[in-house]
Amino acid sequence: MLPQEIIRKKRDGQALSEKEISAIVSGMTDGTFSESQLAAFAMAVYFQGMSMDECIALTGNMMKSGQMLTWDDLKLDGPVVDKHSTGGVGDKVSLILAPIVAACGVYNPMVSGRGLGHTGGTLDKLESIPGYNTHPDNSLFRRTVKEVGCAVIGQTEDLAPADKLFYSVRDVTATIESVPLITASILSKKLAAGLDGLVMDVKTGNGAFANNLGFANEIAKSIIHVSNNFGVRTSVFITDMNQPLGRTVGNALEVMEAVNYLTGVDRDPRLHDVVISIASEMLAIGGLAETKKEGIEKVNEVLDNGKAAESFGKMVLTLGGPANFLEEVKSYLPEAPVIKPIPSEHTGFVSGINTRNVGLAVVELGGGRKNVTDGIDHSVGLSQVVGISEKVEAAQPLALVHAQNEDQANQTIETIRNSYSISDSNVEPNPIILYLLN
Ligand code: URA
Repeated sequence: MLPQEIIRKKRDGQALSEKEISAIVSGMTDGTFSESQLAAFAMAVYFQGMSMDECIALTGNMMKSGQMLTWDDLKLDGPVVDKHSTGGVGDKVSLILAPIVAACGVYNPMVSGRGLGHTGGTLDKLESIPGYNTHPDNSLFRRTVKEVGCAVIGQTEDLAPADKLFYSVRDVTATIESVPLITASILSKKLAAGLDGLVMDVKTGNGAFANNLGFANEIAKSIIHVSNNFGVRTSVFITDMNQPLGRTVGNALEVMEAVNYLTGVDRDPRLHDVVISIASEMLAIGGLAETKKEGIEKVNEVLDNGKAAESFGKMVLTLGGPANFLEEVKSYLPEAPVIKPIPSEHTGFVSGINTRNVGLAVVELGGGRKNVTDGIDHSVGLSQVVGISEKVEAAQPLALVHAQNEDQANQTIETIRNSYSISDSNVEPNPIILYLLN
């Protein structure tokens, strides 16, 4: 099958057969499709779309392009359920959620990604923890899932390798924002992990790549349809990303906020809403809660009795981190040498935040990558971030910047001030949970 003929067919708006889609996916991994042909194919799909049948075929073939994980031989006494977010700014939900649901009896093998563009990545955050192995071998990964209930790790070479290559081509050819390509990309990795259930968090707003509700809704529906087709029960939350989630943005700072959340030191209400909603839905999907109320009660119980925090500590230890990480968290996380307030220029209410620019400011500080091969500075970022509808006095901080030097700190102060709108009258923030679809 000639690659250019398959591309031509899609370019002209015709549906591809299962055989043609299978040829493209094999071509991604065996090199018979060049990167320029993959780029042309991605652009053809971007403009012409795909039918549900095509999207299912693409997802299935990409899923089977590598290893398929199975858990049956471990004889787990609970459901295998995962969560995935399309990514945002200050989104540390995965760090908190995995140990909570593990403490409630769910098994959560969570394969996470690195930061992308202006959004942070769970893997980069976890690598702030000294010794934490984000790429354990298969036997340690499985042992951690069995013994702790959760293991948050990075994508292995073997898991949906077709997506790894195709994603890197899409990333540099402006073809990320396509509903069928996003669906196949996310689900090929998640479905290869052998799940019984999945809860997705599709973020929408000025800090998300789905920057409008219509687009987020299309992604949500497509994911549910395709995932159900593969027998995986799936729910999707659409959540607001018109402001950073929680009070911190940046790798070590977000780990600190996650630990403070789990140990009950501090729980930002919007972050708490997302965590409780997704966690209780994971329990419901896994058959561990009959009603939303029962799910929420179970989640609150493991937060109150310390079991969720304990699961986090055990996961860190089993994957190579310090035994007393929770007790001595501050001494283990890297701290930036310069910490400065970002003073508001006016008195008033925060009426808007350019969340994408906030994320980019942290990338500029070194907390994210400009190129895939760049290293990362785990210590930098923002803390005490003020949210929409909160009142600030002139000269009061909008956030604290954590930087490597004064110049970087001053540049960030400028960027963050320009990212905030302050008004005389107050505005209601969007609710954090916009919709639940299943
Ligand atoms: N995340 C993914 O893994 N793939 C996409 O295409 C978009 C977000």
